[in-house]
Amino acid sequence: MNLSFKDEILAGIPADRLPEAKPYDKDINHAPKRKDILKPEEKVLALKNALRYFPESLHAQLAPEFAEELNLYGRIYMYRYRPSYKIYARPVEEYPARSRQAAAIMAMIQNNLDERVAQHPHELIIYGGNGAIFQNWAQYRLVMQYLATMTDEQTLVMYSGHPLGLFPSHKDAPRVIVTNGMVIPNYSKPDDWERMNALGVSQYGQMTAGSYMYIGPQGIVHGTTITVMNAARKQGGSPAGKLFVTAGLGGMSGAQPKAGNIAGVVSVTAEINPKAAEKRYTQGWVDELHPSLDELIPRIKKAVANKEVVSLAYVGNVVDLWERLADEGIHVDLGSDQTSLHNPWAGGYYPVGYSLEESKKMMADDPAAFKEAVQASLRRHVAAINRLTAKGMYFFDYGNAFLLESSRAGADILKEDGSFRYPSYVQDIMGPMYFDYGFGPFRWVCMSEKPEDLALTDALAMEVLGRIAARSPEEIAGQMRDNIHWIEEAGRNHLVVGSQARILYADCEGRTQIALAFNEAIRDGRLKGPVVLGRDHHDVSGTDSPFRETSNIYDGSRFCADMAVQNVIGDGFRGATWVSIHNGGGVGWGEVINGGFGMVIDGSEDSARHIREMLFWDVNNGIARRSWARNAGARFAIEREMARTPDLRVTLPNEADETLIIKSLNQQ
Ligand SMILES: NC(=O)c1ccc[n+]([C@@H]2O[C@H](COP(=O)([O-])OP(=O)(O)OC[C@H]3O[C@@H](n4cnc5c(N)ncnc54)[C@H](O)[C@@H]3O)[C@@H](O)[C@H]2O)c1
Repeated sequence: MNLSFKDEILAGIPADRLPEAKPYDKDINHAPKRKDILKPEEKVLALKNALRYFPESLHAQLAPEFAEELNLYGRIYMYRYRPSYKIYARPVEEYPARSRQAAAIMAMIQNNLDERVAQHPHELIIYGGNGAIFQNWAQYRLVMQYLATMTDEQTLVMYSGHPLGLFPSHKDAPRVIVTNGMVIPNYSKPDDWERMNALGVSQYGQMTAGSYMYIGPQGIVHGTTITVMNAARKQGGSPAGKLFVTAGLGGMSGAQPKAGNIAGVVSVTAEINPKAAEKRYTQGWVDELHPSLDELIPRIKKAVANKEVVSLAYVGNVVDLWERLADEGIHVDLGSDQTSLHNPWAGGYYPVGYSLEESKKMMADDPAAFKEAVQASLRRHVAAINRLTAKGMYFFDYGNAFLLESSRAGADILKEDGSFRYPSYVQDIMGPMYFDYGFGPFRWVCMSEKPEDLALTDALAMEVLGRIAARSPEEIAGQMRDNIHWIEEAGRNHLVVGSQARILYADCEGRTQIALAFNEAIRDGRLKGPVVLGRDHHDVSGTDSPFRETSNIYDGSRFCADMAVQNVIGDGFRGATWVSIHNGGGVGWGEVINGGFGMVIDGSEDSARHIREMLFWDVNNGIARRSWARNAGARFAIEREMARTPDLRVTLPNEADETLIIKSLNQQ
């Protein structure tokens, strides 16, 4: 019996029957088999845990099925309970709901799990290999049912994908509170995640996966564009005719050529895997593929001379490219790398001198020789980069552990004092130019799912930013220009995959004014439906991550996580519709605490109040902390905010004279 979309949601987990078994779909990208980590008695516990979602009458059929899943995949996904309807973000009014806020959350969940958006949709993995929205399909069904039946005087409590239940609250409280991977700190090693996830009691929510806020590749393109634009700006002059060289046309790295085009430079990206290169080429994310360096080099010279805005790809090893550029004496303005060096021994980085197939074979047959080949390659890689930086190239690490792995390989990458020769993108660009001033990856989704609504929000955002930019102080004029450029180009660049969403880096004033403009347009009917506001967790206040988001905190507090935890608590009582706090995200389980929010705005006065109160805290919390850490941009930004907001009083640091301190210590 086929139920309608609404009835299947309302049915939740049917108590009296099993849904039809779903065949394993070979055309879908599936998650890798996970480590077989559980001891026999723990496997008993994992099955018991899984079966507690179902009445005992169904256990005889389900137990062997779940045991087989655990054995085959290392996890119990409960594939049979995948819904029979197609999952994608439908307009908000199509959901069964008593609360429109809850309906909007359903739409966001549907978008995360859309097959065009999610990485391994049948395993409920949204991105990054292990970024989960739920652990299994029983949780999905229960959550959808709870959301469909809850009112605006209840709150749904989510423990790592598991819905603990609906609890009475009030209309100003969040409709959903999400925690993901919150564990006792001493039990936060990668294998602890493997074990707890296999037991069905915890999950890795990445950032926007477990918080229902993922909007596909668009988010990465904007961050990469900003990084490339600012790296170009650091070199002075116009971006036209500047040459940017990098590597990787994979998941995130594939955004580089598109970002290069938006930034207006000539980019060359090396990619060793012809399939990855071809995929990006057919998707229109890179303009030209060149398998031969003899052909590529004159093409680069021509593009630079003519100041073309073009993205070229070298289908080959990036080390060969760097060495040839250095030998030819070509001036490279900007350099980076986005091979997957966070995973160097299992296919993240391919060593020079070997074909892709030779590398794959060596990786499996002789891992020790493969490791040596990778390290030798990294030494050559860095040597070539050093020759070009000696001639003026600006090189930066793109959060992929390039500097760390190169140093471990014994490459010439350290300064005399033991620090890295080159900066990371957060230390040099995102931190001091963006996060410290409150600029971060604000985003919104039009719940009508109408492209016209998105186009109108783009126009409104552009108008608001234009107005603010006209009176912006010099310190943030460049950032404002970049963001206006981005939003002007966004529609033309066809960035939407899945729901009608947009990302736009903005500061507190920008986010607030844009959101208020949307709220007005909803109220007077120019926008045809409510709008969800949110952001990536990779932001000013949301994330404590010592090697990425908070890597430009130098007062010793970059390993503290007070900011991220405070942020979510504060958002929770200032009007967020849902909040989430996660262990892990970007750099790994145990390495970061990050949080985010979603806010449904519907044109009401309540929405306007929530926008003003919550967005203010959501940005200024981080600026205040960054200012206390003595970051100059943040000090400027928080003093400016205090001048316009009399109720804001932030503790400011006094600067101490280092000579006095050293003298005092030496006297002891
Ligand atoms: N873009 C961002 O905003 C961002 C932010 C932080 C971190 N990162 C990091 O960037 C890295 C890349 O992410 P991804 O999702 O694109 O990974 P991915 O594995 O999908 O892509 C990396 C690509 O590099 C290619 N490659 C590997 N070695 C090469 C070599 N020697 N020469 C040429 N090509 C080579 C691979 O074939 C692969 O296609 C990750 O470590 C990620 O954590 C990206």
